[in-house]
Amino acid sequence: MLETSSFEFDAGSLDRLVNPKETELDTTDDIDLTLRPKTLSEYIGQDKVKENMSVFIEAAKKRDEPLDHVLLYGPPGLGKTTLSCIIAHEMGVNIRITSGPAIEKAGDLAALLTNLNQNDVLFIDEIHRLNRQVEEIMYPALEDYALDIIVGKGPAARSIRLDLPKFTLIGATTRAGQLSAPLRDRFGVIMRLELYSFEQLTDIVLRSSVILRIPCDKKGAFEIAKRSRGTPRIANRLLKRVRDFAEVLGSGKVSEDIAKIALDRLEIDSLGLDGMDKRFLEMIIKGYGGGPVGLETLASAIGEESITLEDVCEPYLMQLGFISRTPRGRCVTALAYNHLGITAPANVNPAQISLL
Ligand code: ADE
Repeated sequence: MLETSSFEFDAGSLDRLVNPKETELDTTDDIDLTLRPKTLSEYIGQDKVKENMSVFIEAAKKRDEPLDHVLLYGPPGLGKTTLSCIIAHEMGVNIRITSGPAIEKAGDLAALLTNLNQNDVLFIDEIHRLNRQVEEIMYPALEDYALDIIVGKGPAARSIRLDLPKFTLIGATTRAGQLSAPLRDRFGVIMRLELYSFEQLTDIVLRSSVILRIPCDKKGAFEIAKRSRGTPRIANRLLKRVRDFAEVLGSGKVSEDIAKIALDRLEIDSLGLDGMDKRFLEMIIKGYGGGPVGLETLASAIGEESITLEDVCEPYLMQLGFISRTPRGRCVTALAYNHLGITAPANVNPAQISLL
């Protein structure tokens, strides 16, 4: 059984084609579901996570036990939900999908847990947003597969313990630091998903183009990959938009030339930076002499939420080596000055090595 929860919209960044967050279009779109790999061997990238996960899955299956609870963290759009569905599939169990904010009351969690079968997976996205009351009843559920329920009120109130089927919780978060220590400690497996390299994203675009029957050559796929901010969700979204340009303006094939024309027209630059990234970098350069400047100051100067900057802009700009984080705030590096075509002052942080 697969159940999707409701989504919260981040209105400020919804219109960004390079928004890595899941939008309603991504999830209500059947096509998107067909693009999701179903097995670990189909899943491209995250090699260390895949290798270790396949050992844990095999061991749990041999012992006929549920997989230990898993925490997946990292920037949005890297495939945390997809990986969780794959884990359930490889374990041969059902997955139930929900999110931290959707579980409002203890009773909501109780309803979810009591409906699971032995060894099933419960996936909670944005687990850092679980409320306190719900989090507390989660502890015995995770540790002893039991729910402590208070029945009655006042002096007559008593607690009954309800046994649950043995299950696996997979929690996903973009901000592992916001998880309380007691909750974090109850995960036996904690894994960080990394941004994807251009080569891995090229393979993902080529795989998607085959599934969607879009003629696409390797150079066209690479051009899309370079502008996808290390994020498969963005790569797949851009592929669909470039296809539109290829069908209307070109021969129907996604080539390097048509990808460049399409993505330039969509105002996504050669490395996937859009207006928000540029405002971020230019504000540090022009407003604060290249930094350091605190995130909150920067956020109010450019009129964005600091969380959006931290979750969406910064991971990719750091991966490119365009910004560095220092104890006194954010600084722009010489690489970013070069990319923006601005001459770097002599004392600027020397170019860092890009990880891509
Ligand atoms: N589509 C989205 N993410 C993917 C991945 N990691 N591997 C293959 N296809 C994908």
